[in-house]
Amino acid sequence: MDTKTKINPEKLPLHVAIVMDGNGRWATTRGLFRYKGHERGTKAVREVVEGAAEIGIKYLTLYAFSTENWKRPETEVNLLMKLLVSSLKSELTKLTENDIKLNAIGNIDNLPAPAKEELLSVIEKTKNHQRMTLTLALSYGSREELVKTVKEISVKTKNRLISPLDIDEQLINNHLYTHNLPDVDLLIRTSGEQRISNFLLWQIAYAELYFTDVLWPDFTKEDLYKALLNYQNRERRFGRTSDQLNE
Ligand code: FPP
Repeated sequence: MDTKTKINPEKLPLHVAIVMDGNGRWATTRGLFRYKGHERGTKAVREVVEGAAEIGIKYLTLYAFSTENWKRPETEVNLLMKLLVSSLKSELTKLTENDIKLNAIGNIDNLPAPAKEELLSVIEKTKNHQRMTLTLALSYGSREELVKTVKEISVKTKNRLISPLDIDEQLINNHLYTHNLPDVDLLIRTSGEQRISNFLLWQIAYAELYFTDVLWPDFTKEDLYKALLNYQNRERRFGRTSDQLNE
């Protein structure tokens, strides 16, 4: 039996998030420019988006560019932005054929104008799609998101639109970039690094973490299905005991 057929469609994670890591190493170990790794990384993005939609994942979130990634050499940043624009242009048809809605989280006002425009255009054109929501985290950092949230809530409190007593988990959630997404159930990181790197810190409170040595450009549908199978063999207790779950 192959991995895909072993997956129980009733027990799929609702929201899968991925830290796509290892593009640079994939390229340099082959004597190629780092850019080639990012280019191959887009192929893996296409394959994994397709694989996630096929199996029935409802929410897939990809860490495409972090707030810290702005510190990379300007040429690499520019190339990544160009790759984003060309991928958005070329993938619109596939997103439409597969009924996938594009969404973005992060400080997208910081993106170069062509990237922001293309992104907003694809988001608008796919907004009524139902099968899966694909979220790209772009110029995203969890700490920046939390600072933004605290500022917005403080202003509302100061202007007496809300009372400090109204501040609860739901209200904080409503101010995050991810306000229209469920909590993450499964977080995957490729390339052997075992870090969170400022990704969805609030949203992964109860996520299962899955680390694989596979470099992102080599990551396939089969690797995604292995991660899903691994997830299905875990017991999620959300603070309760095993016995309570079986009652
Ligand atoms: C991490 O690899 C990857 C990135 C910072 C960018 C991810 C971008 C892509 C997969 C391509 C473009 C994406 C879209 C959505 C069009 P790294 O460069 O940190 O690798 P390293 O750790 O081996 O140096």
